[in-house]
Amino acid sequence: MTDRIAVVTGAGRGIGREIAVVLAEAGATVACADMDGSTAEDSAGHLREAFGGDHAAFTVDVRDSAAVTTLSERVIGAFGRADVLVNNAGIALTVAAEVMTDEQWHDVIDVNLNGVFYASRAFGSHMLERGRGAIVNIASMSGLIVNKPQGQVAYNASKAAVIHLTRSMAAEWAPRGVRVNAVSPGYIVTEMNRRALERFPDWEREWLSMTPTGRLGMPRDVALAVAYLASDAAAYVTGANLVVDGGYTAW
Ligand SMILES: NC(=O)c1ccc[n+]([C@@H]2O[C@H](COP(=O)([O-])OP(=O)(O)OC[C@H]3O[C@@H](n4cnc5c(N)ncnc54)[C@H](O)[C@@H]3O)[C@@H](O)[C@H]2O)c1
Repeated sequence: MTDRIAVVTGAGRGIGREIAVVLAEAGATVACADMDGSTAEDSAGHLREAFGGDHAAFTVDVRDSAAVTTLSERVIGAFGRADVLVNNAGIALTVAAEVMTDEQWHDVIDVNLNGVFYASRAFGSHMLERGRGAIVNIASMSGLIVNKPQGQVAYNASKAAVIHLTRSMAAEWAPRGVRVNAVSPGYIVTEMNRRALERFPDWEREWLSMTPTGRLGMPRDVALAVAYLASDAAAYVTGANLVVDGGYTAW
């Protein structure tokens, strides 16, 4: 990934931060974008210290189409181009379908689906002009199966949509040199799940009982898959959904 410019949304913590680390390790210069500017700055600072280079932080709310366009202008202005976009920012909400409010539904769809579309359009049009680029969308195994025991209808629907958005854009853009793929993690140890398990500690036993590898995933398990799809090693891979779930969806 030497000399590649990579943009990662939700890079302030969790899976996004580790994706930024692995891409920087592989030689890329990373634009760490997050709604929380201080965590984005912390991630970029960590990359500069650990790997050297011009890694930079950007504050963006991916729900805001205009702000996402501004992000693409700022990143391309600062670095001259964007070679890789990783759409990682996402939120999860556990609410029974029959009592979910309009606001809760829209919140999840706005971040997890609309945000992916806005950023892919903004950076994708730039990549199409250059005739090269790779986009990796962080979907979820929840786009393929229904999680047990928690109800999360908006999340599951948003991630299923991201998988099909990925295939749709991949088909449109492949002839013009831009690849679009998805990575679908299973249960990964991050703040997102830590908060859920704090409220419902019994879930972990249930999740593990359905995971053939017998452990939860680590952010690095996901980040390495992202690095593969973002790199030229995956030159002939587009429209794919690489499932990184310890075998959960195999059972
Ligand atoms: N943790 C898991 O088990 C798991 C499993 C499958 C998929 N995923 C997906 O992986 C991605 C990262 O998850 P995580 O577990 O690291 O979550 P996390 O909650 O630990 O981190 C998410 C990051 O995204 C940022 N973010 C949230 N909303 C944003 C917005 N509107 N604009 C910009 N940034 C925003 C947050 O500030 C945070 O830094 C998400 O898309 C999530 O759905 C996670």
